[in-house]
Amino acid sequence: MAGSKEIMRLKFKLNGQDINIDAAGGERLVDLLRERFDLVGTKEGCGKGECGACTVLLDGEPICSCLMLSSQVIGREIITIEGLADKKGLHPVQKAFSETGAVQCGFCSPGLILSSVALLNDKPKPSREEIKKALSGNLCRCTGYEKIFEAVESASKMTTKRSRKHD
Ligand code: FES
Ligand code: FES
Repeated sequence: MAGSKEIMRLKFKLNGQDINIDAAGGERLVDLLRERFDLVGTKEGCGKGECGACTVLLDGEPICSCLMLSSQVIGREIITIEGLADKKGLHPVQKAFSETGAVQCGFCSPGLILSSVALLNDKPKPSREEIKKALSGNLCRCTGYEKIFEAVESASKMTTKRSRKHD
């Protein structure tokens, strides 16, 4: 996609690391992530903000990285699917998606998982309707969504249990 080729200094946080690079500020964030950082878990489907495959978290909120310019991340924090797991292993939402059978071809999964993480951070025990609403911008052609909604409910139980342990 055409964008300003003007090179600028981009300082931001990416998956917990401080980034300080020169890059074209008019480049789309999805391209910066995939091509410059090799974070190819961020997928491009429609390129128009309609499918959610390119979802990443910007300061904790899910956004379409195909609609965002690299210059817009300056001073902010981006989390991609590669940044979710920690030393202890997969994030509970990743585990739940895998165990529930919510992943088929997997193209939509990074975006759906990140949208689910944002939802559960905001609302640890969402209703089915709240889950549907939160994931309405993420399209899946394979699963029929039922398994995905079940996965989020299962992750909700896991995260609630996990936080209780730390009470
Ligand atoms: S590729 Fe960004 S919303 Fe479809
Ligand atoms: S699992 Fe294939 S598009 Fe969702």
